[in-house]
Amino acid sequence: MKICFATHNPNKLKEVGQILGEGFELIGLNELGENEELPENQKTLEGNSREKAEYIYKKYGIDCFADDTGLEVYALDGEPGVYSARYAGPGKHSRDNIALLLENLKDKENKSAQFRTVITLIKKGRVYQFEGVVTGIIIDAPRGKDGFGYDPVFIPKGFDQTFAEMSLGQKNEISHRGLAIEKLAGFLKRKIKKN
Ligand code: IMP
Repeated sequence: MKICFATHNPNKLKEVGQILGEGFELIGLNELGENEELPENQKTLEGNSREKAEYIYKKYGIDCFADDTGLEVYALDGEPGVYSARYAGPGKHSRDNIALLLENLKDKENKSAQFRTVITLIKKGRVYQFEGVVTGIIIDAPRGKDGFGYDPVFIPKGFDQTFAEMSLGQKNEISHRGLAIEKLAGFLKRKIKKN
C-alpha cells in the first residue's frame, strides 16, 4: 500500500515506517517534492492534522496522513496545546517555551499534564482520526539531555524519569505519538487484509 506521511521530519518517517512494517510504501513530503511548510491555521490538534492531510490529498491525490501534537497542562486550561511549538513566540527555542511554562506554573499546585497526538488519515477521500495520550506531571526544573521539546520537564505517570532521561526506545513504547501510530497501523493492516 502506497501512502504519504505529511512530514518533513526524517526521524518521524523512520519511526512510523518501522511500526507499519512490510506491505507499505511510505512516502514523506521531501520525496513528494513538497518543500513548503504545510498550513496549520486551526485551533485544535484535530483541525490542524486534518488541514495538513487534506492539503496533501487535494494537491497530489494520494492517500495520506498527518499528525499534530500538543502538551496540555491542566492548571493552564489545556495550554500550550496546539500552540506548543510556538508558546514563547514564533521562532523561539524549546528552552524558551519551557521557561515560560515553568513561570506560568510556578504558583499552581496541580502540575498534571498530558501529551496528546492526533493523526488524521485520508484514504480514498474518507477521513479517519486516531488519538494517542500519555498523562504525567510537569516538574519544576529540566532534567535529562535526550529528546526534544518539553521532554526535560515531563515525567509520565508510573515512571521516575523525564522523557529526556529515557532512551528513545523506552519513550516510543509509551509515548503519545507511538500510541497514535499503533492505532493507525492496526487500522491500515486490517484494511490490507480485507482487500
Ligand atoms: P508536532 O505536532 O509533532 O510538530 O509537535 C508540536 C510541538 O509539541 C513540538 O514543537 C514540541 O514543542 C511539542 N512536542 C511534540 N511532541 C513532543 C514530545 O514527544 N516531547 C516533547 N515535546 C513534544
